[in-house]
Amino acid sequence: MQDPESYESTKTGNDPVAVEAFSKFASKMEWSPNELYLDFGCGAGSNLYTYLLPLAKKNTSKIHGVDISSVMIDHARKHFSSEGVQYFARDMIHEKEFTGEEYDKIFSYHVLHWIKDYELAMKRFYDILKPGGFVGATLVTMGPQFWMLQNLGQSEKWRGYCKGYENYIPKWIDAGSDAEDNIEKSLLNCGFEIVSLEKIVLKHGSDIEPLMDLLLSLNPFLNEIPAHLRNDLRNDGLDILKKMQNDKLDVYRHDGLCFIARKPKC
Ligand SMILES: C[S@@+](CC[C@H](N)C(=O)[O-])C[C@H]1O[C@@H](n2cnc3c(N)ncnc32)[C@H](O)[C@@H]1O
Repeated sequence: MQDPESYESTKTGNDPVAVEAFSKFASKMEWSPNELYLDFGCGAGSNLYTYLLPLAKKNTSKIHGVDISSVMIDHARKHFSSEGVQYFARDMIHEKEFTGEEYDKIFSYHVLHWIKDYELAMKRFYDILKPGGFVGATLVTMGPQFWMLQNLGQSEKWRGYCKGYENYIPKWIDAGSDAEDNIEKSLLNCGFEIVSLEKIVLKHGSDIEPLMDLLLSLNPFLNEIPAHLRNDLRNDGLDILKKMQNDKLDVYRHDGLCFIARKPKC
């Protein structure tokens, strides 16, 4: 995701899902004072600020917001700074060794589906959680973004700008396997206890233009594409979405999962 302003203005379809997910996290996790939370993939920062910060304040706890994109982190620092919140641009999953503090809780809202090797992400979460710590996450299991990235990444016109696009498509898509099953197995394989794992559905309106803008704002290669070609990219993206609709796909529907898991106390 490389366009924080556009992402923030087009993601409203996510809002009811965010309200429900964070209230589930609040009710199903155990809370103590003076904890450290990680918001993994905090993006432009508004969800951290709206949903996590009140929980942190109530529990006199601190938050680290981490995102792979420095553009997102710059936006978060500028617009969503607060006492007790620190933002970091880093790729915690793929860096060789983790250096830093351990966390009492990890939150990750709509991020894991951007990571091909999501099992590695689960392992890293497990390693950096304190015993008894919780992870609460939502992710998209099926939706137009995967086909969009694949179509652009394979096209003659855009492939030069989208090198390595495969790394942003989770393994369950390529394997055509059941995402829920994959996520459940990888949580258990890491050693987590599953507190809850539920299917969710996100609806993104019924207008193709804002949907396209949302998908574009999330495109990890957006900043590789010269400004004068962006409109061209958007038009090609719209054609891809329309083709999906002709193939009877509901492009406005994104299926997902919401889970809470716990690292055993000892
Ligand atoms: C759909 S956005 C969600 C942002 C934020 N959680 C929210 O609720 O608005 C996905 C975010 O995941 C980030 N991301 C993708 N891969 C990542 C990784 N390996 N490490 C950290 N962040 C990552 C992207 O840069 C993007 O900001």
